Amino acid sequence: MKKLFIGLLLTSILISCNNQKKETPKTETQPIIEKQTKPSFDEALYQKKGKEIAMATFKVFKGHIQKVASTQGLPAVVDFCNKKAIQLTDSMAQANNVIIKRTSHKLRNEKNAPDAAQKEILDTYLKAQKEGQALKPIVKKDKDGYVHFYGPIKLKHECLKCHGQPEKDISPAIYKVIKEKYPNDQATGFKVGDLRGIWDIKFLEKK
Ligand code: HEC
Repeated sequence: MKKLFIGLLLTSILISCNNQKKETPKTETQPIIEKQTKPSFDEALYQKKGKEIAMATFKVFKGHIQKVASTQGLPAVVDFCNKKAIQLTDSMAQANNVIIKRTSHKLRNEKNAPDAAQKEILDTYLKAQKEGQALKPIVKKDKDGYVHFYGPIKLKHECLKCHGQPEKDISPAIYKVIKEKYPNDQATGFKVGDLRGIWDIKFLEKK
């Protein structure tokens, strides 16, 4: 019974997705104002795709980190992230025909520095966080016509060991490696639930 229910659910999801794709824009029936403000691409589709890619990338990260942590200890994970973080996001990006960036207002690796558009998103989220509002993903076209999915990266409990408070959350052994690899590190002092940074997923096929 349960299986049947899940089957039906899946089928209905699949059907509704298909319908969405085939649907032609209902421009004639919509008021002009709405027509102007509506983006010229399927925002919901990019929301969905963006979320999926961000989650999948996070999972790949987590899997690698857990493996290194359990076999070589956490300080080795810092070294691993230092050598592999960008490479890992790049390989996930290639597989999905996107460019994936993780950036932040408080950087660890300066190579992850935000560009102007990413800074704007970070500011939007920081303001929303201050005002106690929910941080929702943002889908936007850039000036060259590429669609971007931006999503908040929030600090989780498991991140404290490397992004929390030195001494209290970060062990001296880990802090030492962090400081060795990233002398200008700013990515500490976060609390659980804080905005740690953002995802920027740029879709390479133009819409
Ligand atoms: C074992 C230590 C460790 C843990 C645990 C860890 N990080 Fe990091 N984090 C790093 C290192 C090292 C970098 C720099 C990676 C690089 O060189 O690109 C980094 C970079 C980042 C960046 C990229 C922006 C920047 O500052 O360079 C984000 C975003 C981030 N971490 C979020 C998280 C989140 C969210 C968690 C928990 C789910 C987490 N990290 C857990 C060590 C860690």
